[in-house]
Amino acid sequence: MATVKTHTFDAVIVGAGGAGLMAALYASRSANVAVLSKLYPTRSHTGAAQGGVGAALGNMEEDKWEWHAYDTVKGSDYLADQDAVDVLCQEAIDVVIELEHMGLPFDRFPNGRISQRRFGGHTNNDTQKPVMRACHAADRTGHMILQTLYQQCIKHNVNFYDEFHVVDLIRVGDSVRGVVAVEIATGDFHIFHSKAVMFATGGWGRCWEVTSNAHSLTGDGAAICLRRGIPLQDMEFFQFHPTGIFKLGILITEGVRGEGGVLLNGKGERFMTKYAPTIKDLASRDVVSRAIYLEIQAGNGVNGKNYVHLDITPETVNRYLAEDGETRRIDREYIEAKLPDIADFTRTYLGVDPVKEPMPIQPTAHYAMGGIPTDVDGRVLLNADKEVLQGMYAAGECACVSVHGANRLGTNSLTDLVVFGRRAGQHMAKLVQTIDLEPLPANAAAEVIAAFERIRHNTGAVKPYELRQQMQQAMTTGVSVFRTEQTISKTLDTLNQLRAAYQNIQIQDKGKVFNSDLLEAWELGCLLELAEVTAVSALARQESRGGHARDDFPNRDDQNWLTHTLCHKDADGQYRLTYKPVTLGRYQPKARVY
Ligand code: FUM
Repeated sequence: MATVKTHTFDAVIVGAGGAGLMAALYASRSANVAVLSKLYPTRSHTGAAQGGVGAALGNMEEDKWEWHAYDTVKGSDYLADQDAVDVLCQEAIDVVIELEHMGLPFDRFPNGRISQRRFGGHTNNDTQKPVMRACHAADRTGHMILQTLYQQCIKHNVNFYDEFHVVDLIRVGDSVRGVVAVEIATGDFHIFHSKAVMFATGGWGRCWEVTSNAHSLTGDGAAICLRRGIPLQDMEFFQFHPTGIFKLGILITEGVRGEGGVLLNGKGERFMTKYAPTIKDLASRDVVSRAIYLEIQAGNGVNGKNYVHLDITPETVNRYLAEDGETRRIDREYIEAKLPDIADFTRTYLGVDPVKEPMPIQPTAHYAMGGIPTDVDGRVLLNADKEVLQGMYAAGECACVSVHGANRLGTNSLTDLVVFGRRAGQHMAKLVQTIDLEPLPANAAAEVIAAFERIRHNTGAVKPYELRQQMQQAMTTGVSVFRTEQTISKTLDTLNQLRAAYQNIQIQDKGKVFNSDLLEAWELGCLLELAEVTAVSALARQESRGGHARDDFPNRDDQNWLTHTLCHKDADGQYRLTYKPVTLGRYQPKARVY
């Protein structure tokens, strides 16, 4: 049996993106906290968020947190829990100011206030016109949040365990006792024994072929929870961001359209006027991604291919600004200042200069609306009765609180992770003062070590990368922007076969030191499981809502489906679905038009 080192902390936070760091900062004020990340912290995926963090500061034009809340609920296709949405939108304002005070270098309006831009689905509720709500640092907002929070954590002596890959949760009955991690550099297993555990492990966009997500986005935290008896909520809702670089999926921020960019089909038509006559290119993401698919299906892709154009050239933008009755105009300098990374990406990856020519784009798998169910303090919930798993927290993309419902508005991911990361950190700090460290169960790491040894020594004929490709193809064909019973069922059949084949994989590297072959094979197991949960949940939901568009059930059905899905994995390995009511509030469901 491998030697297992044990470390003891009050609280262990898994993941060093915005949610994990914000929680660490708050929890470490009164608790002994460790942050474990399989990456170097500033490589966390929060750094890939570009266009802004949503908060109704009203720095340039009138705005109110209630408008932000209404837009979020409407954007969610009425599946968001409205008590959580209120928390999100009220606390967003204060948390953005807090980030500013920490030193985050936001862009500025000429009046010196934090600069804000327009983003999809964010409106002045009175006029229904887009409102400037996305607080931004050029198109590097997530990167700046990550750097700022990391600096603060270092300043406040948070304990970091970089490149420690968490592979199991130690749960005893209805409380948690810590986690098991692999130290990537040595291959050694470690137990982190604690009173509280928080998962901030991000999403699982790598289930699909074309994604904006980094290779590390394999849903480890969500998969571990599922294996340890925690259900996953609303997994059928996965967001496809409308504008990924064609074939590569790399994100082109919605901020491009916020600054005036337009989508054009192969005939040069601004097609969003058909699908969202009021806010056009700034409709919510589900609406825009469906519109792009429909244009391509109708043969209106550019050059007959599976992409359309995103045009931010000053000539085009200024023409449409004039047509829309706006007085503002843009030029090369403005684009280089407001969208420097985008300009750089498209020049580097496509050889396209966005100041001179349009960018080829397609929808790209981007964000999990569903995940580990939590309350507004980040406490993980075990069932529809909202029973809490003591000491267990989750926040950020891996969690489902649920403020995004069936479709998240752009900028609300960053808002979510700073607001609910902070709340989880505060709650955890209090909890660990009130409870004792319970003993570890015997051989707490044995089960996961055995699973790793099976993968290491397996001599089957199946190559993990082939399985990964087949899974990504199956998900892209069957559980994408549009889906039907037939496509989902076919994908599920394939995933069943892949699950069986996974037992026969063989890796090349049998060693311990930096064995990425082994860890990637383990991550593939997580992805396969989450793909299956997504498909099982999607097959059951016989309606269309937000990011779940069923061609065979094209309408939203509030009578039967205004409800959250919980997918449980039972001891026999079977998935079981239960449902829990949506928390409504000021906003009653109504037809959703943009
Ligand atoms: O388009 C973007 O900049 C992405 C932001 C987000 O997903 O919130």
